[in-house]
Amino acid sequence: MKEKVLITGASGFVGYHLIVEALQNNLEVYAAVRKNSKVDHLKDLPIQYVYLDYSDIESLKSELKDKQYDYIIHAAGVTRAISADEYDLINADYTANLANAAVQSGINLKKFVLISSLAAIGPLKGMNGIITEDTNPNPITAYGKSKLLAEHKLRAVKNLNYIILRPTAVYGPRDTGIFIFFKQVSKRLEAYIGRGQQKLSFIYVTDLAKASIRALYTGVNNTYNLSDGNFYDKYELGQLTKTILNVKTLKIHLLVNFVKLIAAVSEKASSLRNTAPILNLEKLDELTAVNWSCSIELAKQELGFYPQYLLAAGLTETLKWYRDNKWL
Ligand SMILES: NC(=O)c1ccc[n+]([C@@H]2O[C@H](COP(=O)([O-])OP(=O)(O)OC[C@H]3O[C@@H](n4cnc5c(N)ncnc54)[C@H](OP(=O)(O)O)[C@@H]3O)[C@@H](O)[C@H]2O)c1
Repeated sequence: MKEKVLITGASGFVGYHLIVEALQNNLEVYAAVRKNSKVDHLKDLPIQYVYLDYSDIESLKSELKDKQYDYIIHAAGVTRAISADEYDLINADYTANLANAAVQSGINLKKFVLISSLAAIGPLKGMNGIITEDTNPNPITAYGKSKLLAEHKLRAVKNLNYIILRPTAVYGPRDTGIFIFFKQVSKRLEAYIGRGQQKLSFIYVTDLAKASIRALYTGVNNTYNLSDGNFYDKYELGQLTKTILNVKTLKIHLLVNFVKLIAAVSEKASSLRNTAPILNLEKLDELTAVNWSCSIELAKQELGFYPQYLLAAGLTETLKWYRDNKWL
């Protein structure tokens, strides 16, 4: 009999790739989605849907008991929210509810994998140094703080086998975040915020999905940072994108203070409309942070995580997918 995995956030970018990888590993996949989630792209996959109310531990318990999952990969989360409270509720409290329900339901859950984020630690202030699992967390956004809170709450759940994964910026087919930059470059515009140096890190979504599946079977109660093991200066993503798309661009550097003004206006306007801003001041700090380089030595040693894609290889696949699917 196949082992069962519950994948939350299944309708999202990372969720799709988790499903594909889980199926390739011969797992029976239960995809947690919402009634209004967009799931057209999942319709040909041999999966079953479940609808969870993360605010209600009792209903979570009965759902978990009913299906007797072997594993949970918790990827549901928000990256844009109206307030810090909303981030904390969805990213942290719902994580704790699901984990507590798993323990209280008495099912024989072998592993709970939380997709956290490198934003839970935050960037380093200087160009020297590299983020490790021992780096003192100093998240600079409400999003990052909520992911750190989720980690704390998960570690506090007794009798749970868990792994926390902290991916850096994830890119790949279906991503709509970094895609905005690719789209600009395809339209021959390469815009940067300021001229300051940066060390950036990335992970290709397939590598993240593979690491998540490995984490089901390896390692106990530990936390791992994930990237492709390399770091990149602020221009490398643009340079590689131009080369792969074979386009020439107009390169511009926006003044940081000018973008700050736009971010402040966007933040104010969104708060008046009660919507989540696309760009706000703390998000801008994250985008312009100096050093996001991150060590993956621990994940290599303990999870056997050896990423297969450096940026050039991952971008080649990603941009091909965007083109084939008429996103570009
Ligand atoms: N993408 C990155 O660069 C990155 C980097 C580090 C960590 N992560 C983490 O990876 C996870 C997945 O991110 P993603 O990039 O795949 O984001 P995404 O495409 O926005 O997907 C988010 C998923 O979470 C679900 N979700 C959001 N709010 C929910 C709620 N209140 N109740 C139930 N489900 C809810 C969404 O469902 P609907 O489809 O119904 O909205 C969707 O399935 C997140 O936890 C994120 O923090 C992402």
